[in-house]
Amino acid sequence: MSSNEEKLPPHVLIFPLPAQGHINPMLNLAHLFCLSQFHVTFIVSEFSHRRLLKNSAVPTAFARYPGFQFRALPDGLPDDHPRAGEKFFEMIPSVTNVMVPSFKKMMIQEEFLASGHRRPVTCIVSDGSLSFVGDFAEENGLPLVYFRTAAAGYLWTLFCYPQLLQAQEIPFIGKSMDGLVKSIPGMEGFLRQRDLPIFYRVDDVNEPILKNKADVTSEIVRAQAAIFNTCEDLEGPIVSQIQKHMSRIYSIGPIHEQLKSRLVEEKAEASIVPASLWPVDRGCIDWLNLQPRKSVIYVSFGSVAVLSSEKLVEIWHGLVNSSQRFLWVMRPDSISGNDRILHELMEGTKEKGLLVEWAPQEEVLNHPAVGGFLTHSGWNSTLESIAAGVPMICWPYSGDQTTNSRFVSEVWKMGLDIKDTCDRLIVEKAVRELMVVRKDEFLERADEMAKLVKKAVSKGGSSYRNIDDLTEYIKSLVI
Ligand code: UDX
Repeated sequence: MSSNEEKLPPHVLIFPLPAQGHINPMLNLAHLFCLSQFHVTFIVSEFSHRRLLKNSAVPTAFARYPGFQFRALPDGLPDDHPRAGEKFFEMIPSVTNVMVPSFKKMMIQEEFLASGHRRPVTCIVSDGSLSFVGDFAEENGLPLVYFRTAAAGYLWTLFCYPQLLQAQEIPFIGKSMDGLVKSIPGMEGFLRQRDLPIFYRVDDVNEPILKNKADVTSEIVRAQAAIFNTCEDLEGPIVSQIQKHMSRIYSIGPIHEQLKSRLVEEKAEASIVPASLWPVDRGCIDWLNLQPRKSVIYVSFGSVAVLSSEKLVEIWHGLVNSSQRFLWVMRPDSISGNDRILHELMEGTKEKGLLVEWAPQEEVLNHPAVGGFLTHSGWNSTLESIAAGVPMICWPYSGDQTTNSRFVSEVWKMGLDIKDTCDRLIVEKAVRELMVVRKDEFLERADEMAKLVKKAVSKGGSSYRNIDDLTEYIKSLVI
């Protein structure tokens, strides 16, 4: 090693699954590393990179860090592939078969991305759902850190797949979905069968998606360390359970709040920039500015959900019949069936409701006019709502969301869980309950939770200490 190279900072390579819910937290991690003066290479698909360039200020924002670079690679899917709904699951095999091989080739050809002013990659922070990146790290003797973008609670339920199997708690056939699950330590008192991740809803316990999710989750232990976007106050006891299998876990979340806190502390000129893959409609902020305090329920089902127009019409009726104001994000690709129905319905309720295609969600949740969130319980949305002190109505759609929503209603008690229903009367009742009948109680609880997570990411807090420990650990990897 040259004496010049000895002086260079660590070079971290970050490889997320190229989807909105994964890019967001992992780009925030990249930003935190930049604040520690690390060099960062962020792998992104060509498709996502083009959309980031077009729809967000991220490339400009990162331009201030000379040590940061994007590297865009093909994800193997045509541009018109929906990358949403059921088709979302085609992404992992495609990334594995096309993007990972291009990545390996690039790494080898470019000698682990070394250059005159950048040392070769010090360690790989891989999305925990991309096990093939882990294979590459192992084959080449590179330290591997897995970043799991989902909640620890969700991961723990998959980790316990063998125990569920052994206790014959799965498959569910012939059992009540409301029965409590007994073989997941730390969750015995509140987790029902219906709250397990959606992948467990199969007749055959060897069904490939379930098996794959369980295998990939338990594989986390092969990494030298893992990063969780959570904090002690939210999931401390669950993280402790996982730590029995893997000691080096850094819970550094909510990561967007951690980044905000660090930027303020360092008086950095940069601010947190949403990594939008869709064009952001800022008109909704103007509309919110005209609404009374805590009067609006924000409705969004994330970046992947695709819903039938029948379901959306039920939700629409429930919202309108509740007489509450609402702001609803309806991605252009999120409706299967007749997508004109909703736009026609909306025409009649303009003064109470606003429909947008993509919102600046974090800003919306922190807007004084917003008093509730009807959400699909994606983990990023859940964390953003908790940090903003906004109570939730959870209507989970897929994957990890059925578990997240149970934590919201039963553990943190900051909302209602209406999973497995889609009925206008239930939606109307839940909206009234959240926004009118139990409004003060929910807002008070949400405020307490927001204070807890903000403390966790502030100086002296658990997540704050953990990010410092993580950066020290990465520095220790520099040979
Ligand atoms: C998915 C899973 O649901 C999630 O649980 C998993 O951990 C990551 O992948 P997604 O369904 O998109 O993600 O939901 P979520 O995790 O909530 O992420 C959506 C992100 O998009 C959030 O950060 C949210 O702020 C952002 N968003 C959403 C916007 O910026 N604007 C919008 O209008 C809607």
